[in-house]
Amino acid sequence: MELPIIIQGGMGVGVSSWRLAAAVAAAGQLGVVSGVALDASLARRLQLGDEDGTLRQALSAFPAPEVAQRVLDRYYVPGGIPAGKPFRPAPLLSMRPRRHANELAVVANFVEVYLAKQGHSGVVGINYLEKIQLATPAAVYGAMLAGVDYVLMGAGLPSEIPSLIDALTHHRPVQLPVAVEGSAAGEAHTVALNPPDLTGELLPPLPRPRFLAIVSAASLVSYLARSPRTCPDGFVLEGPTAGGHSARPRGKMVLDDNGEPVYGDRDRIDLAKVAAAGLPFWVAGGQADPQRVAAVQAAGATGVQVGTAFALCRESGISPQLRRQLLQRATDGQLAIQNDPVASPTGFPFKIAQLEGTAAEDGIYQARARRCDLGYLRTPYLRPTGRVGFRCPAEPIDDYIRKGGAAEDTMGSRCLCNGLMGTIGLGQRRAGDDTEPPIITIGQDIGVLTELHRRFGEDYAATDVLHHLLAAAHSGS
Ligand SMILES: Cc1cc2nc3c(=O)[nH]c(=O)nc-3n(C[C@H](O)[C@H](O)[C@H](O)COP(=O)(O)O)c2cc1C
Repeated sequence: MELPIIIQGGMGVGVSSWRLAAAVAAAGQLGVVSGVALDASLARRLQLGDEDGTLRQALSAFPAPEVAQRVLDRYYVPGGIPAGKPFRPAPLLSMRPRRHANELAVVANFVEVYLAKQGHSGVVGINYLEKIQLATPAAVYGAMLAGVDYVLMGAGLPSEIPSLIDALTHHRPVQLPVAVEGSAAGEAHTVALNPPDLTGELLPPLPRPRFLAIVSAASLVSYLARSPRTCPDGFVLEGPTAGGHSARPRGKMVLDDNGEPVYGDRDRIDLAKVAAAGLPFWVAGGQADPQRVAAVQAAGATGVQVGTAFALCRESGISPQLRRQLLQRATDGQLAIQNDPVASPTGFPFKIAQLEGTAAEDGIYQARARRCDLGYLRTPYLRPTGRVGFRCPAEPIDDYIRKGGAAEDTMGSRCLCNGLMGTIGLGQRRAGDDTEPPIITIGQDIGVLTELHRRFGEDYAATDVLHHLLAAAHSGS
């Protein structure tokens, strides 16, 4: 299998939709769907009535029909729920997921990959966050059942994933270690999945997807590459301007006058050292330019991973109105993207587009009642009883403190789960006419948006982004 030059980055929640990934894959590059929170988004989409029948068509292809049927029975509402009626919640992640939680997760990941793979023979990947460990086994298994070609994982060090994929290829039971705050050294916590419990029968072995680790430094490449147990099939090296989360600066965190983390020489990625590991790699973060593609290739990279340029294209999952607003602001030179060191409950800096009317505005965010009802970014911690509890700095402050969390962690913390769902038009409906306000992330390097807008107009397509990036390759130079 030839390696792609362009990876269309996995952008959560639902920005890298199956439509986007399919468009990129059909054009011969790697189209990636986001694997974050697919269980909740499938549950909500089914409740909106699945007007064109696409989801039900994908569900009918799931290898265990009775499992897909149970998901439909639970969430599908013909004609859709009435406007203003809240969505029925999907189960929260837990250490011992109940059967229907695992079923929904496996089916939802299957559906997204299955749809992204229709109508072409290109390659499709799925992107996960290492930090959301409790979701990983069921999610990866669902994507593999749909024949996903690549699994990508960032936001943490994904050392356990190569063996997880190996086991799931053969439908073998897996136990993924889970980091639990406050547990003693040597005390192991795991989340388990037994595939035959879900699919009922023994299926033939699955094709093994390639695994790419998304990291921010050459030292992490060497660390993962040193053992066959942890070694991925390649790396994405992501710099701090990339959309979404970024690594913290090395050393003590220093903030500039704008309150953003300062990155310095120690954070520069040493591509020569990465190349020396001998594995394929791609560079991400401000690389959406044909000259950058050529430059990183000259440094030994296979190509680039690009997010922001795709986030605002026609096939992106961002609501059309927000997408137009963002593009307009960006091309007018009026869009600030703040690298916020405290907004994300994960503790990683997170890029937030400062767009009026969204939860980037303090007034709008403060008007929202704090609650934690999606819970993907909750941290597992050991309770005094010895059981595992979950807390999130964006939940109600009293709850967080009662669970042993520090009050200062709650300052400036934003509920990304609800905000990101809002960005793709799936925000929870609250009492009255309120809907969860969106939170939008894109990268800080937005010059490419002006260029795309100038060349291809405000409704540019994923293939326009590819034409722009591969200009040199297309002109034969
Ligand atoms: C809207 C958006 C959401 C993103 N979400 C994720 C994510 O959930 N997981 C992840 O690993 N990377 C995420 N990223 C990063 C992209 O996959 C990609 O690496 C990055 O956008 C590349 O840099 P660029 O934005 O400068 O092109 C996101 C980026 C954007 C723009």
